[in-house]
Amino acid sequence: MRRAFELARSVLSCAPNPRVGCVIVRDGRRAGEGFHAGAGREHAEIAALAADPDSGAGATVFVTLEPCSHEGRTGPCTRALIEAGVKQLVIAGLDPNPQVSGVGQLEAAGIEVFRFEDFVAEAAELNKGFLLRMNLGRPFVRCKLAMSLDGRTALADGQSKWITGPEARADAQLLRAASCAIVTGVNTILADDPALNVRPDALKGGDRVLAETRLAEAGQPLRVIVDSKLRTPRKAKTLSLPGEVKIFSLWGRDAARFPDSVELISASASQERVDLEFVLNCLATRFECNEILVEAGPILGGALLTAGLIDELVIYMGARLLGSDARPLLEFAGPDSLTQSEALEIVDAGVIGDGLRIVARPAAR
Ligand SMILES: NC(=O)c1ccc[n+]([C@@H]2O[C@H](COP(=O)([O-])OP(=O)(O)OC[C@H]3O[C@@H](n4cnc5c(N)ncnc54)[C@H](OP(=O)(O)O)[C@@H]3O)[C@@H](O)[C@H]2O)c1
Repeated sequence: MRRAFELARSVLSCAPNPRVGCVIVRDGRRAGEGFHAGAGREHAEIAALAADPDSGAGATVFVTLEPCSHEGRTGPCTRALIEAGVKQLVIAGLDPNPQVSGVGQLEAAGIEVFRFEDFVAEAAELNKGFLLRMNLGRPFVRCKLAMSLDGRTALADGQSKWITGPEARADAQLLRAASCAIVTGVNTILADDPALNVRPDALKGGDRVLAETRLAEAGQPLRVIVDSKLRTPRKAKTLSLPGEVKIFSLWGRDAARFPDSVELISASASQERVDLEFVLNCLATRFECNEILVEAGPILGGALLTAGLIDELVIYMGARLLGSDARPLLEFAGPDSLTQSEALEIVDAGVIGDGLRIVARPAAR
């Protein structure tokens, strides 16, 4: 099963599908292995069986997720496993997709099915975005921020390039490559004119291969601008780069001024601004985004946090001080007492270049 997870992780994203790896064991030996490389590509079980068509007879199949039982873009994996003569199936995660009920079909065909309890949490982590989309109708929201050692994200006049070093910026490229959409606020577009695209040449070695594979399979992630009054300039850099741009706005008029690759989406409003739940719901349902990366300033980040819509903060801390006039990490109304403050759990932390990388999640979830 550990090898099956390694295989699943050999792609950054299979969206809208989950990431899945599979290993076939026969006569105590590994007889085949495979993974799902992306939507429309063969599923992990089919890829593993294809390595050796005879490998399934009497075999035990280890797969990180319950096999599918429906005719999607590819045929049902349950049928392939039954036809191959598989004896036992070991799975880690169950598929919440209502169209998938592979376990029942396999058991009815006489295949023994086991759930490997030790890997249930790893299966949930591997496909956290897919699971959230299926269960809650929104993607996994990762918010990336660069801050100084005194917790500031830009000077008072808006300058924020560069608080962190090249290693941190390269690492952030990998986060983009793992995401279905990169989301920002209009103020960041106005202040920084960012590209918001994946640039594999910023990466090295295996990371570069992962990013290049993602681009080859699925193209650039969507670039999303949250812009209530449609202040995005027509000449903003991100609008003219390869890939699609979605602008969520309450102001639908001058759509014609943008290039064809830009879609203006009329959002519902919350307190006279774009309703963020509407944005996330649209990214999940219409664009089938599993994981998204927010790269915005403190206002949009703070609004998402207040709405309970941030699942993970990735903070790159540069070894510099910006002072108390500089912008904070997130703008939101703080609690009345420390006991009421949002508790976070640090899930990862380490040195990156000459700074730190901290990954934190809301402790309650
Ligand atoms: N250090 C970092 O990691 C980092 C990253 C990105 C940016 N920055 C810096 O951050 C600064 C910009 O940050 P910012 O906080 O002013 O802007 P921002 O978070 O990029 O964008 C905020 C804007 O988004 C729009 N918006 C639409 N719907 C919203 C909603 N429901 N809730 C909140 N905002 C909504 C609002 O403008 P409308 O009301 O007009 O729609 C709002 O003013 C720049 O100086 C930039 O350099 C730093």
